[in-house]
Amino acid sequence: MSTEELLSNNESWATEQVRENPDYFTELASGQAPNHLYIGCSDSRVAASTMLGVQPGEIFVHRNIANLVGNTDLSALGVINFAVTHLQVDHIIVCGHYFCGGIKAAMTTTDLGILSPYLREIRDVYRLHQQELAALPDEAARYHRLVELNVQEQCINVTKNPEVQRAMRDRGLQVHGWVFDIATGKIIDLKLDLPELMQEFMTIYSLK
Ligand code: CO
Repeated sequence: MSTEELLSNNESWATEQVRENPDYFTELASGQAPNHLYIGCSDSRVAASTMLGVQPGEIFVHRNIANLVGNTDLSALGVINFAVTHLQVDHIIVCGHYFCGGIKAAMTTTDLGILSPYLREIRDVYRLHQQELAALPDEAARYHRLVELNVQEQCINVTKNPEVQRAMRDRGLQVHGWVFDIATGKIIDLKLDLPELMQEFMTIYSLK
């Protein structure tokens, strides 16, 4: 698809919205009150709004390669802070996906330049869960499981933030770990229990 086509698609889309509701963009411009923050992969096949069936204004979105929430990633941490503190979302979703190129790349030894330190975050996840991964039958099973474990670790990274901990305690904010299966179109809820997962680490991560 050409860039010109993208712009012409936009023209048609905007015209269609106004035809259906003349106030559509006036209402959209008046503000946003999404209830969910979605953190997902940049992969073009994992289209957050489309696969969740939501309209503009309904979810706050952050995407990067392999849905990482690095401990010093100001972009991801800024999004979380804004979503929790200002938008007051009640749910944070970290959504990974099977067949994730970022996860695959982290399992190889090739030097990928600036991506190497970035992918190290995923290699750390591999190291943390080395025993479990080593026990799996083959590389394909390890690839599959690393996608899930990465989601779990990124959910933990989300929960390390004091504003998230306060919102969990004070107003029941929930953190969810999901995996999108590109081969079926279905999302799998990993049903992670974040307070339980964080329990033994809380003493070092929580800020009073
Ligand atoms: Co990906």
